[in-house]
Amino acid sequence: MSQLTIALTKGRILEETLPLLSAAGIEPLEDIKKSRKLLFETSSQNVRLLILRGVDVPTYVEFGAADVGVSGKDTLIEHNSKSYYEPLDLHIAKCRMMTAGIKGVPQKSGRIRVATKYVGLARQYYAEQGRQVDIIKLYGAMELAPIMNLCDEIVDIVDTGNTLRANGLEPRETICEISSRLIVNKASMKMKHREIEALIDAVSAAVNERIAA
Ligand code: PRP
Repeated sequence: MSQLTIALTKGRILEETLPLLSAAGIEPLEDIKKSRKLLFETSSQNVRLLILRGVDVPTYVEFGAADVGVSGKDTLIEHNSKSYYEPLDLHIAKCRMMTAGIKGVPQKSGRIRVATKYVGLARQYYAEQGRQVDIIKLYGAMELAPIMNLCDEIVDIVDTGNTLRANGLEPRETICEISSRLIVNKASMKMKHREIEALIDAVSAAVNERIAA
């Protein structure tokens, strides 16, 4: 059996992915949340898990440093690469990519400033809308930017909407629905076909069971 390396990211994606992997017979041998380690052996002798920053998961899979990865669709859109397969929607870590602005303030006409971590995605969205925008790249705390007059609007992921509300903002338009996806390195899909197909089948069954529950 070939060794399979699966790249994950801490937080919500990890929490929601572990039960799916467990259903496929893959359990980390120690508590990932309590450890500072970044590489974990599992109950399946041939499978190990890597814990990466979310934005790095597609890069590891693209270059074959990991065979398989779990990544948010937001990260994948922004990564904008066709050099891996995306065979499975895990239907976890669901949220929406939205525009948002200060509550009660209508969208300005003409050219606007937009702050976001998702520069490529935002640029494409406003271009499709025929809107002229200046995009400002931020790495976090986007919700502060309109209040501090850094921008007119933000593009960010929204789940409960609590972060927007807590910062005096309101959602405007939905750009797309987001969920986590299983991605696979193209060469691994050929070289380790049996193992990867078995993993996809088992995880897919666990996803369907979870949806039906
Ligand atoms: C995301 C996003 C918002 C928040 C939305 O941040 O950037 O800040 O979640 O969730 P809500 O609608 O339920 O309030 P996350 O916690 O993932 O951290 P990040 O800023 O590092 O992306």
